[in-house]
Amino acid sequence: MKFTSVAITGAVLGLANASPIVKRAITDADILNYALTLEHLEATFYAEGLKNYTMQDFADAGLNGAAYANLQMIAGDEVTHVEFLTKALTAAGAKPVEQCTYAFPSTDAKSFLALGNVLEGVGVSAYLGAAASIMDDTYLTAAGSILTVEARHSAYLRAALGEAASPDPFDSPLDFNEVYTVASPFIVSCPSSNVMLPVKAFPSLTMTSTAAAMTGSKVQVTVGSGFDMSMNTKDLYAAFVTVTGPVWAPLSFMGNGKFSVTIPAGVAGQSYVVLTKGNSQATDDNIVAGPAIIEIGPMVGSMNDCGNKTTSS
Ligand SMILES: *[C@@H]1O[C@H](CO)[C@@H](O)[C@H](O)[C@H]1NC(C)=O
Ligand SMILES: *[C@@H]1O[C@H](CO)[C@@H](O)[C@H](O)[C@H]1NC(C)=O
Repeated sequence: MKFTSVAITGAVLGLANASPIVKRAITDADILNYALTLEHLEATFYAEGLKNYTMQDFADAGLNGAAYANLQMIAGDEVTHVEFLTKALTAAGAKPVEQCTYAFPSTDAKSFLALGNVLEGVGVSAYLGAAASIMDDTYLTAAGSILTVEARHSAYLRAALGEAASPDPFDSPLDFNEVYTVASPFIVSCPSSNVMLPVKAFPSLTMTSTAAAMTGSKVQVTVGSGFDMSMNTKDLYAAFVTVTGPVWAPLSFMGNGKFSVTIPAGVAGQSYVVLTKGNSQATDDNIVAGPAIIEIGPMVGSMNDCGNKTTSS
C-alpha cells in the first residue's frame, strides 16, 4: 500500500471561489499518525485512571461493577487501536509516532469519567472529520471501524453519566487543527523522533460558566493564550460546528477575553464552538479561537442497567 497526498483546503469544500493555491497537503500516513497520536493519549489516560482509582472509587462516583468492567474493556480497546495503527504505519513504510508525556486534570474517579466522556466525543469527531481526507479505501474502512467503536464508548459513558446517548441525529466533524486545539493542552511533550504533523492549535477557548447549557441560554467562553487581544471584537462571530456547516450564534464581548454566546437551535450534546473573523465561513483561514467544548441539553438520568448512577450532583 502506498500513501497518496490530498489537498484538504478547498477540495473538501468544493468552493468555486476557493483559493487555487494548495496550502496544506496531508498524506494518509499523516492521518494515521494523527489518529495514533490521539489513541496514545486515550490509552494512557485510561491506563492512568484505572491505576489511580479503584473499583470502589468508581462505584462511589456512580458506576457499578459491570460498568467498571466496561471501563476496563474501553481501556483495552484503546491499547489495541494503538497497536493496530502502529502496525499499519510500519507495514506501509511510515514511522509510527510514539507515546508522549501527558498531563490530565482529573483528580478523582468522577472527574476522570467526565474527561473520558469528553475525550471519546472528541475522538468520534476527529475520525469523522478526517474521513473525507483519507485516500486509501482500506484505511478508510479501518478508520471507520475504529470510529464506530469510539462512538459506542462515547454513548456508553454519556449514558453512564446521565447524558443522552445520542442527543443529536448527527455527530460533528472536527478538522485536524480543531482537534489538535482541544487535545494539545493534555500533551506536555513528545519524543523528538516523532514526525511533525501538519497541524497547529488555535488559541484556546474555554467554557467558563458552570450552569447547564440549553437552547437559548447564554454561556460564557474565555479565550486563552495566543489570542490577539488587540483584535476588533466587533468583527468576531461564534460558529457551532455541525456536519452541514456552521450554525451561527449571537456573541457579545464582555471584556477581559470573555464572551457571551447564546446557544442556538440545532445543536445538542457535545458541541464545539469557534470564534471566527467574519461570518461567511468557519475554516482554518478565519478561526481565531477554539473550539470550546460545550455540552448542550438536559441531563436525562442514568440507565440503571448501564451506568447505575447511584449518586447525583
Ligand atoms: C493519575 O495520578 C497521577 C498522580 O497523581 C496524576 O499525575 C495523573 O494526572 C492521574 N491521571 C488521571 C488520568 O487521573
Ligand atoms: C446499582 O449499584 C448499587 C451499588 O453498587 C447496587 O446496590 C444496586 O443493586 C445496583 N443496581 C442495579 C440495577 O444494578
